[in-house]
Amino acid sequence: MVLKSDKEEPEGARAAVEKILNMKKRGEKISALTAYDYPMARLLDEAGVDILLVGDSLGNVVLGFPDTTHVTMEHMIHHVGAVARAHPKGLLIADMPYRSYETPEEALRNARRLVEAGAQCVKLEGGRAILPQVEAILEKGIPICGHLGMLPQHILVEGGYRIKGKVEAEQAALMEDALALEKAGVMAIVLELVQKDFTPKITAALKIPTIGIGSGTACDGQVLVTHDLTGAFPWFTPRHVKPALQTGADIRRAVQDWVASLKQS
Ligand code: KIV
Repeated sequence: MVLKSDKEEPEGARAAVEKILNMKKRGEKISALTAYDYPMARLLDEAGVDILLVGDSLGNVVLGFPDTTHVTMEHMIHHVGAVARAHPKGLLIADMPYRSYETPEEALRNARRLVEAGAQCVKLEGGRAILPQVEAILEKGIPICGHLGMLPQHILVEGGYRIKGKVEAEQAALMEDALALEKAGVMAIVLELVQKDFTPKITAALKIPTIGIGSGTACDGQVLVTHDLTGAFPWFTPRHVKPALQTGADIRRAVQDWVASLKQS
C-alpha cells in the first residue's frame, strides 16, 4: 500500500501506517484495542498498543444502544476528538458510522470530518459493494482500514451475529472482497467472526495485515473491544473474549464499601 502524497493526508498517518505494514513484513503481531475517551486512550498508549480504534462499538458499550446502527457522525466526532487529545503514538483509526458513506461524495465528506477531529485512518464495513466510496477517500490520501466478515452495521438485515466463511461460496466472496480492498489501497483489513480455518488463507493471500476479532489466531494482529477485555461491560461478554479484569465487579464492590462506610459514619 502506498500513501498518495496529498495535502489531505492526516498528520502522522504515513509513518504510523508504514509501521503497521512493516510489522506484517517482520511477522510481528499487531495489537489493536478500542478507545472512546481520553483516559483510556492514554492508558492504552502507555501500555504500548499499536492501534487505537474509536470503534462504533461505542454505541453498545458506552452509549447504551442495542447495536451500532444508532451511532452518528456527531457521536464519532465527539469521541475521536477525546482520543486524539491523548496524542497516542499508535495509529488512530475511526469507524465511519452507519449510513455515513452511502455515496462516494458522502464518504469523502464524512472521512474528512473524522480526520479534522483527529483520526489518522478511517474504517468502513464492506468490500466490493463500497469500492467507489473507498476509492474516493483513498484518492485524497486518507488511509483506510477495511472490515470484512460479520459486519455489525448489517445487523438489522442479518438478524444476528454469526460466523462467516463456513461455506465455499462465502469463502470465495470474502477472498474477492479482501483482494479488491487491497488492490484499491487499504492499509489493513479487520476480519470479524470469520471461520478460523479460513483466516490463514486470506492472511497469506494479502500483503497488507489482517486484524482478527473472533476469527482465530492466524491473523497478523488482533483487535478487541477494550470493555470486553477489561470486564467493564459485565452484562455481556462475547464468546471469543476471556476478560483479563473484572472492572465492573470491582467498581460495584468499591462503591458498595464507600456507601456502607458513609452510612455508618
Ligand atoms: O466498532 C468496533 O469496535 C469494531 C471492532 C469490533 C473491530 O469495529
